[in-house]
Amino acid sequence: MTDLTTLTVDELHAQLRGLTGDKVKPITTELVRRARIPNLLRTSGVPRTWAGVSLGEVAPQPGQQTAARALLRVAPGAKGLYLYGQAGHGKSYLSAAWVTWLVMRGISAKYIRWADLLADVRERMDRRDKPEPAMIDLAIGAEALVLDDLGAGGRATPWSVGIAERILDDRLGEGRVTVITSNLAPAGPPSIPTVAGTMSARVASRLAEACAPLKLSGRDLRVHGVGG
Ligand SMILES: Nc1ncnc2c1ncn2[C@@H]1O[C@H](COP(=O)(O)OP(=O)(O)OP(=O)(O)O)[C@@H](O)[C@H]1O
Ligand SMILES: [Mg+2]
Repeated sequence: MTDLTTLTVDELHAQLRGLTGDKVKPITTELVRRARIPNLLRTSGVPRTWAGVSLGEVAPQPGQQTAARALLRVAPGAKGLYLYGQAGHGKSYLSAAWVTWLVMRGISAKYIRWADLLADVRERMDRRDKPEPAMIDLAIGAEALVLDDLGAGGRATPWSVGIAERILDDRLGEGRVTVITSNLAPAGPPSIPTVAGTMSARVASRLAEACAPLKLSGRDLRVHGVGG
């Protein structure tokens, strides 16, 4: 059978004409999937500057090849990734491109900054009528999630640690795939900033279950610029 994902919408409509019964279903399913994409893109949370940058078309910078390849294998049902390393190595860029890549395939993927999520939870304590969906609900419910810059902002409080645990527990429980970016090492001696040291051993333990760790090397692309 033809690979429906390679056909244009017009070609799909042409195929539908004259079809009846079971033959209609795969084509209408594909059309419904395509129709979701603009809305999914609009609500993906990917920063405007990276809108339209899809992982399949990214030119990896030195040090990014392994991460870019690993992200292409991370899909719903697979184990997630914990991308860590120093500032400016492209963790957020690649993970945002992963979200767009999934959304282009009709998957409800979200990109959420950890600091924005905490701010949203805090705001909702005073303002329960905030009209947009709560970020924590989006983070828990997304088919695929990027939680960007986990642990940013220094030592976590029991409150923020509890939020991270809840998100990871709920997502693990539902088998939903998560990609996390951070400057914190997943493990290591007390002399370096780690997830266990900055957040908690319970968060580090859940992360180890949800995500395979992958360190980005290379250099600070904000300082040195992006090569061709
Ligand atoms: N492959 C790439 N192609 C083009 N631009 C890139 C690429 N990788 C990274 N960049 C750019 O490099 C800059 C730094 O990338 P990014 O913000 O993803 O770093 P980071 O690792 O998330 O840093 P931090 O730890 O400070 O959050 C950004 O301006 C981003 O747009
Ligand atoms: Mg970042």
